[in-house]
Amino acid sequence: MDRRHFIQSAALGIAASTISPTIAMAGNKEQGHEAKLGAGGLFYTKDAPGRWSEKVAGHLPSIEVVPAAEGVRVKVLTGHEMRGYQHYIVKHMLLNEHFEFIAEKLFDPMKDLVPMSEFSLGNYSGRVNVVSMCNKHDVWLNHIDI
Ligand SMILES: [Fe+2]
Repeated sequence: MDRRHFIQSAALGIAASTISPTIAMAGNKEQGHEAKLGAGGLFYTKDAPGRWSEKVAGHLPSIEVVPAAEGVRVKVLTGHEMRGYQHYIVKHMLLNEHFEFIAEKLFDPMKDLVPMSEFSLGNYSGRVNVVSMCNKHDVWLNHIDI
């Protein structure tokens, strides 16, 4: 390699290393909040089912808010089979708008025939993020605004 080619290669390398992070950061800015958190890879949503695109219906938790005497009550259902320890929903978990833990329900696949849970949230208002975890198809996130 002559001196001129060496200098050109070095210049291209420097330019590529300077420009690439800028392009990557611009791409991240265009993604939604959930995508930044890892939707489609770390966890899955209706809009970002990632490798489990055929599994949305049986894994995305449905959420219902029911007024109750004690305040807000949230019902969560995952339309998933409970086939013993072979394939089941491990838990439902509620997180606030900052993804801080509120409550959870662990399921026993030998006793719980339907992955359904209820939570009393008192006078809570704002976003509730709901996680449903399958032992084979990972973690799914949905939310509701109260
Ligand atoms: Fe599953």
